[in-house]
Amino acid sequence: MARQLLAICGLALLSPAALAEELKSPNGQLTLNFDLQAGGVPTYRLTYKGRDVIKASKLGLELKGTTSLQSGFAQTDKQTRSFDETWQPVWGEAKTIRNHYNELAVTLTQAETQRTIRVRFRVFDDGLGFRYEFPRQPKLDYFTIKEERTQFALAGDHKAFWLPGDYDTQEYSTVTSKLSEVRGKMKAAVTPNASQTTFSPTGLQTPLMLKSQDGLYINIHEAALIDYSCMHLDLDDKNMVLESHLTPDAVGDKGLIQTPANSPWRTVIVSDKAGDILLSKLVLNLNEPTKFKDVSWIKPVKYVGVWWEMITGKSTWSYTNMDNIKLDSVDYQKVKPNGTHAANTAHVKEYIDFAAQHGFDAVLVEGWNTGWEDWFGKHKDYVFDFVTPYPDFDVAELSRYAATKGVKIIMHHETSGSVRNYERHLDEAFQFMNKYGYNAVKTGYVGDIVPLGHHHYDQWVNNHYQYVLEKAADYKIMVNGHEAVRPTGLARTYPNLIGNEAARGTEYESFGGNNADHTTILPFTRLIGGPMDYTPGIFQTKVSAYNPQNTSFVHSTLARQLALYVTMYSPLQMAADLPETYNKHLDAFQFIKDVAVDWDDTKVLEAEPGDYITYARKAKGKSSWFVGSTCDENGRTSKIDLSFLEPGKKYVATIYADSKGAHYQYNPQAYQIRKLNVTSKTKLTQLCAPGGGYAISLIEAGR
Ligand code: NOJ
Ligand code: CA
Repeated sequence: MARQLLAICGLALLSPAALAEELKSPNGQLTLNFDLQAGGVPTYRLTYKGRDVIKASKLGLELKGTTSLQSGFAQTDKQTRSFDETWQPVWGEAKTIRNHYNELAVTLTQAETQRTIRVRFRVFDDGLGFRYEFPRQPKLDYFTIKEERTQFALAGDHKAFWLPGDYDTQEYSTVTSKLSEVRGKMKAAVTPNASQTTFSPTGLQTPLMLKSQDGLYINIHEAALIDYSCMHLDLDDKNMVLESHLTPDAVGDKGLIQTPANSPWRTVIVSDKAGDILLSKLVLNLNEPTKFKDVSWIKPVKYVGVWWEMITGKSTWSYTNMDNIKLDSVDYQKVKPNGTHAANTAHVKEYIDFAAQHGFDAVLVEGWNTGWEDWFGKHKDYVFDFVTPYPDFDVAELSRYAATKGVKIIMHHETSGSVRNYERHLDEAFQFMNKYGYNAVKTGYVGDIVPLGHHHYDQWVNNHYQYVLEKAADYKIMVNGHEAVRPTGLARTYPNLIGNEAARGTEYESFGGNNADHTTILPFTRLIGGPMDYTPGIFQTKVSAYNPQNTSFVHSTLARQLALYVTMYSPLQMAADLPETYNKHLDAFQFIKDVAVDWDDTKVLEAEPGDYITYARKAKGKSSWFVGSTCDENGRTSKIDLSFLEPGKKYVATIYADSKGAHYQYNPQAYQIRKLNVTSKTKLTQLCAPGGGYAISLIEAGR
């Protein structure tokens, strides 16, 4: 207390050494140090088993038009505590999650301004989370962030799995390079997108996955991004220091904050085992528990959809071929249909029949509503109204038909980036969904955000996604957001956020292709924040089979497409290919039918970012396990043991694997299926073709 008073009065600054704080993880392997450097500059440092993860790094924020919160601080209080709880997610990779950390909160007071902030650190066994807290106070009521100046000083020129920093998209291929090579590789990494705004030749996105030369795996991201702008990282490639770079709004501001408020958590996950990064629950644990009292309406979903046929160019979202039309001047009853419109009643019924026959929960239908002729590439305020079907889509009949078959239709709201237009129609759109029995919506934000100047990842637009999520919950609707900000574990608090895109998904296999190692990286990067609607399951890997003009091919073998249901965790999984193709491969399709979408337990059997990942997961409430393995363009031999199975029990393993000679480009459909009896003592050696993988279902014998 005396120290607090002294510092507040600005009479004394204790020497930094006297104030250095240390906080250890529960198992003692991680150590966080907090210190005030000369001039009252807050810094932190993180070590793992005595090795530097983050060297002394500055903390603080630059404010607009007033003294920044970067220096001149004295430590005026500190609090520590330990926390240990186990909680159950509504859906997830494990039935229970342990949230175990030691916490240090330091209160810092700036003598010059009489302003106080708090930095709260939580050290878990798997990493560090920290955030800024801005308590309510007379001298800090409302302020504008010019830039957050959080540094992550790295201990070396690590290998990085990175995407170009961008305010509007994450739909880039991952580049694997040393950090010192980022600058030289940036230009080629910035491939075209419908909306994109890069900001620096060394700007990077999070989650950023790093590997040090001495084998430390480090992942930097954020948790609980609420009412704040999305954080990118800018690399000082001389000193290997990453610094936070927030997404600006339409006038260049980076955050409008009214106290009391908190920043999102900045997260550093670390281990000397790659698999630990995949198993980390740190980002989820730093989010608040859900306040939803009733979660019975939130359910994992396995679905098919009227989708890939449009993505490949075989069919169209639009009902006509009219170009340059103004939507409100068109009478759709009078115009000539183009004959390629997929979302028509008869065709959607075929999908519903297919879904019902094979036990799928739902059918996504895109292109059902008017307006598709009139938006792409335009910055329109009014466009879709989200309640007017094209003339050939009989919503009442389809909702009746789907209900008789026990299948849900998934709504699609392409907002065309017009955030205001969407909010304007939102209640009516959700009421329409309730009326016709839709319980999930896929949203999309293709193109620049309208109002222009805003970015997909700025504070105002992030608040929009949050508004949609909360509003959807009022209507008991689940949300799968495409082109929205990448997830930060918010699904713990809002479990109706069952999916996001926010990366290069399977659609890009039709737009030129994803790298063969893409799915060996995404679980280490994008998926650290939450599940992805990756839309796997493409068996016809030659896109030209559907659209002769499209020469793209899927950079994966067929067997690996099955593995993705296990390796790309999501409670929302699509079987993305066309029923006509699945009907030709019903033996392989069986895995997609059998695989679970919700899990009691998850193990990583083998993993190395960029090379391979093999997971085993136990189906929720069942004794069956599923294994999935994905590898890069080189192929490999995977060796696993099944010791995760319950000892003493017998299981039937069905192995869906690449045949000898399979190859993602030259021979993708060469697969073989074999069955064998196994126990927890069984060891397996399995070939993975270049760009291939395998999937195994393990069903208890007699079940
Ligand atoms: C991009 C989405 O990622 C894709 O899934 C969707 O079909 C199109 N936008 C149209 O909304
Ligand atoms: Ca997309």
